[in-house]
Amino acid sequence: MAEMPAPATYPPVITGLAGKRVLVTGGAGGLGRAMAHTLAAQGAHVVIADRDGAAADALAREINGEAWEVDLLDTAALESLHLEVDVLVNNAGVQTIAPIQDFEPQAFRRILTLMLEVPFLLTRAALPHMYEQGYGRVISICSIHGLRASEFKSAYVAAKHGLEGLSKVTAREGGRHGVTSNCVNPG
Ligand SMILES: NC(=O)c1ccc[n+]([C@@H]2O[C@H](COP(=O)([O-])OP(=O)(O)OC[C@H]3O[C@@H](n4cnc5c(N)ncnc54)[C@H](O)[C@@H]3O)[C@@H](O)[C@H]2O)c1
Repeated sequence: MAEMPAPATYPPVITGLAGKRVLVTGGAGGLGRAMAHTLAAQGAHVVIADRDGAAADALAREINGEAWEVDLLDTAALESLHLEVDVLVNNAGVQTIAPIQDFEPQAFRRILTLMLEVPFLLTRAALPHMYEQGYGRVISICSIHGLRASEFKSAYVAAKHGLEGLSKVTAREGGRHGVTSNCVNPG
């Protein structure tokens, strides 16, 4: 008699992460923290990049990873960065809600910077190493707002639509080098 298939497990078992170095932005809180835990449980060495240094340090101790205290809005420091990671998770994000006519330009710029320019700069910093080794995974945490719009979230929707585009270009350029790029859109 044929053997019954093993029951599906949750969370799904991801194999092949042993020895992989993974950078998770905004990794000290929320979804980033949960991803850091899951990735570490699958054997990855997780680097937690977060402006909350204390939370990043505490999590790094928990999962035997590494904390990188960084305010990613300091983009000048990211322009000369060279990242040696196998997996980059663009996760850090913030939200501001206001109708367009009342939306503070500075708040709009902050969201576009953190959620679009920073993923660009980190991807730019990570690709040379990924290309050199012929392997890399770029994962961008997007949203339904990368595909659809809601009122009062002009900056968030614009940034997430842009992130979808950046991710697609990364996939087009990276594919021939063994680098994939995908968005995950949490519900
Ligand atoms: N939570 C949701 O329901 C949901 C739904 C769809 C998409 N998302 C997306 O998932 C991602 C994570 O969301 P979340 O809800 O876990 O967020 P969160 O606010 O819980 O955590 C964000 C983390 O990013 C860090 N961070 C913020 N600004 C930073 C900066 N300038 N430099 C470094 N670190 C910074 C924070 O310290 C925090 O640890 C975001 O991109 C968000 O748009 C979330």
